[in-house]
Amino acid sequence: MDGAAELVFCVNGRKVIEKNVDPETMLLPYLRKKLQLTGTKYGCGGGGCGACTVMISRYNPITKRIRHYPANACLLPICSLHGAAVTTVEGVGSTKARIHPVQERIAKCHGTQCGFCTPGMVMSIYTLLRNHPEPTLDQLTDALGGNLCRCTGYRPIIDACKTFCKTSGCCQSKENGVCCLDQGINELPEFEEGNKTSPKLFSEEEFLPLDPTQELIFPPELMIMAEKQPQRTRVFVGDRMTWISPVTLKELLEAKVKYPQAPIVMGNTSVGPEVKFKGAFHPVIISPDCIEELSVVNHADDGLTLGAGLSLAQVKEILAEVIQKLPEEKTQTYHALLKHLGTLAGCQIRNMASLGGHIVSRHLDSDLNPLLAVGNCTLNLLSKEGERQIPLNEQFLTKCPSADLKPGEILVSVNIPYSRKWEFVSAFRQAQRQQNALAIVNSGMRVFFGAGGGIIRELSIAYGGVGPTTICAKNSCQKLIGRPWNEEMLDAACRLILDEVSLPGWAPGGKVEFKRTLVISFFFKFYLKVSQILKTMDPVRYPGLADKYESALEDLHSRNHWGTSKYQDVDPKQLPQDPIGRPIMHLSGIKHTTGEAIYCDDMPVLDGELFLAFVTSSRAHAEIVSIDLSEALSLPGVVDIVTEEDLRGVNSFGLLGEPEKLLETQEVFCVGQLVCAVVADSEVQAKRAAKRVKIVYQDLEPVILTIEEAIRHHSFFHGERKLEYGNVDEAFKVVDQILEGEIHMGGQEHFYMETQSMLAVPKGEDQEMDVYVSSQFPKYIQDIVAATLKVPANKIMCHVKRVGGAFGGKVTKTGIMAAITAFAANKHGRPVRCILERGEDMLITGGRHPYLGKYKVRMMNMYKEIDQTPYKQEIDATNLTQCWKECMATSSYSLRKVAVEKFNSENYWKKKGLAMVPLKFPVGVLSTAAAQAAALVHIYLDGSVLVTHGGIEMGQGVHTKMIQVASRELRMPMSNVHLRGTSTETVPNANVSGGSVVADLNGLAVKDACQTLLKRLEPIISKNPKGTWKDWAQAAFDESISLSATGYFRGYESHMNWETGEGHPFEYFVFGAACSEVEIDCLTGAHKNIRTDIVMDIGHSINPALDVGQIEGAFIQGMGLYTIEELKYSPQGVLYTRGPDQYKIPAVSDVPTELHVSFLPPSQNSNTLYSSKGLGEPGVFLGCSVFFAIHDAVRAARQERGLLGPLKLDSPLTPEKIRMACEDKFTKMIPRDEPGSYVPWNIPV
Ligand SMILES: Cc1cc2nc3c(=O)[nH]c(=O)nc-3n(C[C@H](O)[C@H](O)[C@H](O)COP(=O)(O)OP(=O)(O)OC[C@H]3O[C@@H](n4cnc5c(N)ncnc54)[C@H](O)[C@@H]3O)c2cc1C
Ligand code: FES
Ligand code: FES
Repeated sequence: MDGAAELVFCVNGRKVIEKNVDPETMLLPYLRKKLQLTGTKYGCGGGGCGACTVMISRYNPITKRIRHYPANACLLPICSLHGAAVTTVEGVGSTKARIHPVQERIAKCHGTQCGFCTPGMVMSIYTLLRNHPEPTLDQLTDALGGNLCRCTGYRPIIDACKTFCKTSGCCQSKENGVCCLDQGINELPEFEEGNKTSPKLFSEEEFLPLDPTQELIFPPELMIMAEKQPQRTRVFVGDRMTWISPVTLKELLEAKVKYPQAPIVMGNTSVGPEVKFKGAFHPVIISPDCIEELSVVNHADDGLTLGAGLSLAQVKEILAEVIQKLPEEKTQTYHALLKHLGTLAGCQIRNMASLGGHIVSRHLDSDLNPLLAVGNCTLNLLSKEGERQIPLNEQFLTKCPSADLKPGEILVSVNIPYSRKWEFVSAFRQAQRQQNALAIVNSGMRVFFGAGGGIIRELSIAYGGVGPTTICAKNSCQKLIGRPWNEEMLDAACRLILDEVSLPGWAPGGKVEFKRTLVISFFFKFYLKVSQILKTMDPVRYPGLADKYESALEDLHSRNHWGTSKYQDVDPKQLPQDPIGRPIMHLSGIKHTTGEAIYCDDMPVLDGELFLAFVTSSRAHAEIVSIDLSEALSLPGVVDIVTEEDLRGVNSFGLLGEPEKLLETQEVFCVGQLVCAVVADSEVQAKRAAKRVKIVYQDLEPVILTIEEAIRHHSFFHGERKLEYGNVDEAFKVVDQILEGEIHMGGQEHFYMETQSMLAVPKGEDQEMDVYVSSQFPKYIQDIVAATLKVPANKIMCHVKRVGGAFGGKVTKTGIMAAITAFAANKHGRPVRCILERGEDMLITGGRHPYLGKYKVRMMNMYKEIDQTPYKQEIDATNLTQCWKECMATSSYSLRKVAVEKFNSENYWKKKGLAMVPLKFPVGVLSTAAAQAAALVHIYLDGSVLVTHGGIEMGQGVHTKMIQVASRELRMPMSNVHLRGTSTETVPNANVSGGSVVADLNGLAVKDACQTLLKRLEPIISKNPKGTWKDWAQAAFDESISLSATGYFRGYESHMNWETGEGHPFEYFVFGAACSEVEIDCLTGAHKNIRTDIVMDIGHSINPALDVGQIEGAFIQGMGLYTIEELKYSPQGVLYTRGPDQYKIPAVSDVPTELHVSFLPPSQNSNTLYSSKGLGEPGVFLGCSVFFAIHDAVRAARQERGLLGPLKLDSPLTPEKIRMACEDKFTKMIPRDEPGSYVPWNIPV
């Protein structure tokens, strides 16, 4: 072994040599903090979001080939990178050198909003293009499967990437063998004559071509190193951990003998999350490097042998090749494995994770182990004692010592036998989301009939997700041997399996009845599938299943996307340089794609900087008996722990309503409440110490976790509000029909991609402090910090450059955390940074709360043209009716309704649903004062302009719109106007950025400032009309005319009288309609979003590209809210869903296969900014069209099954709810638990 190892790798072509590397360091913090390459972002730290995607390139000196693959830097130990080349977004392109076509196209196709996910997106597509310069659409969606975006709704990103495909224009749905474009089936009716529409939001013609020869080459130095250097085991010794990288099998075995407890880290996708999230610690890690034997691919007579070190992505490629070459009867297991490899995690994880790591980890939800087990695979083991083979069977999977690896043993390879004639293997899985989501239940099933007699000779069934590891239904299978493959066998099998694979009501993960149903529904699918094959093989002997039932067999996948956006072109008379109404790219778009856009945590570490980590309550309601800080304080690097004691007199602050305590050390009211804060020299030290703070609790009653419990305990927020329209009681007496019921909606996590971030910097003079924070409300931050530090607001300045997504989640809690951070900074006179991890963020911050609504309605009509709201505000709903009609037409609702019904009558196990919803979204903030806005515009002597206003750029493009406004008003090109960010120093007392009105209000203020300036300058301009802005600015200066102006908008007139229930709280309404079509799988609860058409009345759009983006992004977020986003709490009130692994926001595969957005031609002028409308939030509601479409499909299924009664389905309409509502013989067959007879794993909140 080489004791003094040096770690050598390259980043963006530059060599990095680390002499004293700490093996605990992951690539992400190394890039961000050590190399100051902050383009690579932190979004979750667990491989689940893709924000940290980089490209890894490795040279294989034996094959002489270079492999490029995407990887999650958050899970990549830097010690594993010896000899590798890392490419980050900075290495792909930059505004300083040249931007790469991927970057250009994502930006110009409007694929960025807040931009925080963008570098990861760029890296995923860049890597794909390195391997496939003209990818297929399947490859593209596959490549994006591991990247989450909370803002855009993905459609523009897909559009951008499609420009690299050969077949970018087509929907790729080759139904009936004909493309949609050829058939004209998807043609959308044009708007009425006279309304010019401009269907393209970008122009492909101007894109830079992709030139693979321009890419960074693999560093020749690394190639030489791999070829020439004698390879020896490298050892890296850190403070707490030693990393051993053997380079030969012999050395690997020696290391394993020496450290039998040390894990063998390959992809680190299993060990890494355990260390990170479950507190596992390994003093020694063995990580084999390029050991040839671990990468074997051997085709033998009896099957395929695959090296344990091959990545899952490589296994996928190999299997795809093999099934092309071999007859189908031999490749049954390979087909099944490939199916699961298509949905297992995202592309990054599949490229990092190894086959061996996957098998040996034996995760309960492993997708491959059930298949490998039923496929009779064997494991080739090696130790110093020699080779040995063991079967990958139930004993191995349950870690039975006699069937497991011995301490000194390693897994070298896996034999996957060929299937035989009359042998069939299938894979099944159902997850909360189609892609990149662990299975709720998965399964591998195999049957062998021998010489075609239709009698079961062998049967193997294994399940994941239903026990602590993969479970084999061995006894059931044994009992079914010898039976013919018919309905009686199916019935017997279901009963046997349910008995054997039994799940207690309290089983971890919850969804117990759903899991039980899936277990037999999968078997039914297998039964049908095999019956169908038997029918094709021998139609006489096996008449098979009715056509109607065949629908059970196909999986629902929406992979190839197609979208259109229609908006109205500007008036031809509008000046060409006037940007209002034009689809201008987000002005930070390119910087988002190059990683040059700076977010709070991208700011360089300052001298003497400290890090602050919070300690939070682990109880839902308890008295804190004692807090012991001593152990935490004794750890190296710990500087202080801020407690309630320190904040005496300033420990509470009220924004709205009752003041909230900053820290709580007496009585806690929820899990995640802030108790104290550790301040240390580094993030690692602060977090380690935070875990050592010992709190003793005394539980208190009541523990209120649900709305129902709150009602029971009379725990209400004050100020009940009621609106009545007419005489309600009388009306109910006379109507023919009353509809009454209850609706429950689950809460939603904001899931902004940038977690809560703040940096407080004391200025060292006059108690001044700068607070840099990711917040929607700098004025509030300023106020709460000033109050906490007991200084006037003029000493505290809050600065926000941009926010990586907020959605309402960066207001109150952000302020509290910023105040505590600032307190620590002030106390120690040193900068303090606080960046929450994803899990902490989800635990500490609130979200959209759940709703319980009780209703009783007497009519279900839409507003008439001129009408009144229940609070007696007049409303002109002409455009609502117009949107509805337009949406009916563009979606061909009536025709498609007939088609859906026809489909439903022909398919028993799949149903389609179609639903349309209208939207009336009131815009306004309930009081005039809350809608005031201000701006400050300076003209400099060189003629350039600087604009500032009170709004926050959080992805919605407000700064872009403000520059458009300044450009129109000052009649100067947008390139002449700059905006640096938002600060309490330039615009004081600004209102919160939210409520869809940021551009509306601030735009009027910017307009006002610009008009003031222009008025002042008009005499000068008219004296020299051909002059430049430089000339005019100089002339104004010479004449002592101020070149700086504030602009102001006092707010929309609005009022509301809750006593009388009357008012005019809103300035205007956004109208819209959406029609969605879905298909559901009644056996699994899966659903596919087939098509959505949205028509919105947005007035005169200031920027159609940004507005389409807002609508689509909101729609997809709403779709998540109503279908898959599900918060899970323990009966003790602990949030389980604390990251992208457990909480599923929509991914690229959830976007409707067809998504059409169009704007109603502007018809009304208003006193809003250029008659535009605010659009940030309205689209969220339209997501419920998907909910109702699923509802429609479920209703169709139930109707066919004779269930005609009312159907109540709560939101979110998850696979679990869909499946359980599609009642059938399987849902009837499962055992049900008596409520109250067990403590469930989670409670419905
Ligand atoms: C975000 C995310 C999403 C995921 N999604 C899915 C999913 O949808 N479906 C699914 O099935 N899985 C999923 N996984 C799990 C993933 O498949 C496994 O983590 C992965 O396969 C483990 O491989 P690895 O090489 O990274 O293992 P490592 O973490 O490197 O090692 C894991 C274990 O295997 C042992 N080991 C590794 N190689 C050998 C060897 N040659 N001999 C002996 N022991 C060995 C190690 O000692 C260690 O204990 C996901 C993981 C993540 C992080
Ligand atoms: S930060 Fe690495 S995947 Fe989320
Ligand atoms: S742009 Fe994708 S997360 Fe904001």
